[in-house]
Amino acid sequence: MDNTARPRVLSGMRPTGPLHLGHLTGALDNWVRLQDTYDCFYSVVDYHALTTDYEDPSAIRENVIEVTLDWLAAGIDPARSCVFIQSLVPEHAELHLLLSMTTPVAWLERVPTYKDVQANLENRDLATYGFLGYPLLQTADIIIYKANAVPVGEDQAPHIELSREIVRRFNNFYGPVFPEPQTLLTPTPRTPGTDGRKMSKSYNNSIYLKDTEVQVRAKLKTMVTDPARQRRTDKGDPAKCPVFDLHKAFSTQETRDWATQGCTTASIGCIECKAKLADHVLARIEPMRHKREELAARPDTVMDILREGSSRARVVAKDTIQEVHRAMKIAY
Ligand code: TRP
Ligand code: SF4
Repeated sequence: MDNTARPRVLSGMRPTGPLHLGHLTGALDNWVRLQDTYDCFYSVVDYHALTTDYEDPSAIRENVIEVTLDWLAAGIDPARSCVFIQSLVPEHAELHLLLSMTTPVAWLERVPTYKDVQANLENRDLATYGFLGYPLLQTADIIIYKANAVPVGEDQAPHIELSREIVRRFNNFYGPVFPEPQTLLTPTPRTPGTDGRKMSKSYNNSIYLKDTEVQVRAKLKTMVTDPARQRRTDKGDPAKCPVFDLHKAFSTQETRDWATQGCTTASIGCIECKAKLADHVLARIEPMRHKREELAARPDTVMDILREGSSRARVVAKDTIQEVHRAMKIAY
């Protein structure tokens, strides 16, 4: 199969820890599918992790491995996709620097995530140069491979929009080096955590892809349900129940019909409903956990895959950087 004839996508994830069901429904499932039609580059973006975790970077290396294990377990295939570590391709950092010459500070200050994340992580000092430049580094990640499209969730759309503006400005000054990357919006089904809020590591409400059967069942057992359904004899409304959102993402139509019927007539209890959900979630993630354990038993394999992917990525990145040097008149 000749990947070079296909349109190219690039996406990245920050190495912040093992991945949960929200990552699966909101990104990974889609990344796996894209492998059939695109030339895929998937990066573990460790420089980006440093923009928020610079005070204590001690978990980043381990998390790079954790994230990669989850990718491979979910079906990212290193024979078809280029899977790599951002900092092993230091040309990303060089392109970030060169782009910083042309990017107005005001463009970065008005990115919605800039103030949002600062406000949400108030225990950290994010008034740094690196954090302001986060979307610029992301732009470098994308355009150094001349990616045509970037699969992301809605929250990241403004970043890709900015990438296009930065590309237009660059091409305007120095000639048409970069294609404008398109946003490939991933539909993100609501995937609440056990407390009903968005599933997130920092809320401590997550079901991880690497959780065991016992852990998954215990977590789902305590998950919040339709608050109006206090007693077993109360009728419930699946539309108001976060458990049902997970049924939508993981169960069969048959099970969803059973849950709807049983919930609205109080003929089933929430315990039963959640146990059934656990069956479906486990059917999905148990094979991943087994694959993950196989891979994790050989810790070198994962790092080997990442190093190999990074050197393949670097060949492409170096080519682009040379072209940029020529365009910017600093080729010697
Ligand atoms: N900013 C992205 C996120 O937080 C991660 C990321 C970094 C990324 N570089 C990227 C995503 C390039 C897409 C393309 O999810
Ligand atoms: Fe939610 Fe199921 Fe309980 Fe209904 S029966 S409230 S859908 S957990």
